[in-house]
Amino acid sequence: MIRLLKQFRKKLVSDKLKLTELVDKNLLKLKRKSHGGEIYKDEINKSGLLDFSTNINHLLELEPYMNSIMKSLTRISRYPDSDSMQLKKSLVEYFQNILTPNNLIIGGGSIDLINIFVSTFVQEKDKIVVCQPTFSEYEWAIKKRGGVVINEYRLPERNFQLNFQSLKKQLAKKPKCVFICNPNNPNGYLDNIEAMEDLICYAKERKIMVFLDEAFIEFAGEENSLITKVKQYENLFVIRSFTKFFGIPGLRIGFGGGNPKLINFLKKVQTLWPVNNVAQELAEELLNSKDFIKNSVRYFKEECKFVSEELAKIKGLKIYPTSTNYLLINTENTSLSSKYITNQMLKQNILVRDCSNYNGLDDYYIRVAIKSRDLNCKLIRTFNSVCN
Ligand SMILES: Cc1ncc(COP(=O)(O)O)c(C=O)c1O
Repeated sequence: MIRLLKQFRKKLVSDKLKLTELVDKNLLKLKRKSHGGEIYKDEINKSGLLDFSTNINHLLELEPYMNSIMKSLTRISRYPDSDSMQLKKSLVEYFQNILTPNNLIIGGGSIDLINIFVSTFVQEKDKIVVCQPTFSEYEWAIKKRGGVVINEYRLPERNFQLNFQSLKKQLAKKPKCVFICNPNNPNGYLDNIEAMEDLICYAKERKIMVFLDEAFIEFAGEENSLITKVKQYENLFVIRSFTKFFGIPGLRIGFGGGNPKLINFLKKVQTLWPVNNVAQELAEELLNSKDFIKNSVRYFKEECKFVSEELAKIKGLKIYPTSTNYLLINTENTSLSSKYITNQMLKQNILVRDCSNYNGLDDYYIRVAIKSRDLNCKLIRTFNSVCN
């Protein structure tokens, strides 16, 4: 009897579904990192909180677009255009007809396109170079596929500029792809576009794919984008976002540029209807908002300079150069860690991005977004009180 019971128990245990044995083994070791903007957590979500942790253009006013948003809403009982053709045509115009719709893919945020690109190109054990510290989702997507990340570090003593020579040495070892963000998150430095193009050419000769993330390029000026160069370099894929400069993170829309053959492969991986019609239609309008675009570029350039100079007056803070709407701050000479400062600032209702979980940064880095002059002054005062 006891033996029967034991056998029965053994069978029960072996019948128990073990998800760890069934899921893709690459997922077992992965642990999500926190990002900016995590304002929905109970311990953070409180009234009056000022969120400086996400770098979204706050200048967008929705009021002038409300009529067309309402019109778009009346169409939500239909599927959206799975190919976003109207938006692609507007993008072709925005890029002065240098690109065609066949060069473009629209995604549910540019993060969608990171995953699609990685699913298309990265296979188990493929070596992929990632220029760190940077947006952690590249590494996440690569590791999900079993790819091996090779880190190429941007160094603080070089203001986090890319070291193109060192990067070329990595490419000489023939990885499958290289991931570069320009201007880079979290520091905002705009790398030299001639050197970037030379690197893309070098990669092309070695049959290496270049993934270039230009999610923040509009702040630096459209002339710094290499998206139209996809006509020349079939190894180049450039992603862009409507989240940051155009200020609509909640609608989830971004786009990518590449050679038509490359775009066709990416489309095979993408799910159908990736972007809703409200996002497609508003994005189209925003591309035509010339004043908003011009004013935003001017505002952030001036305001970044102001905030950067004021923060630099606080003893122990070092501010890195940026061409975006955010600043990376080193706090080491205050002897206060980013974690401590972030917590102290949160007590004063200000949320900043503790960057200690970036690969390639230590416990002394904080990123802040630029907002209105009033709020920026509040941020500066709060830094002052916490650091002194
Ligand atoms: C450098 C960079 N690329 C891409 C993204 C993804 O943005 P989205 O999916 O909202 O377009 C982010 C978001 O923080 C980012 O910082």
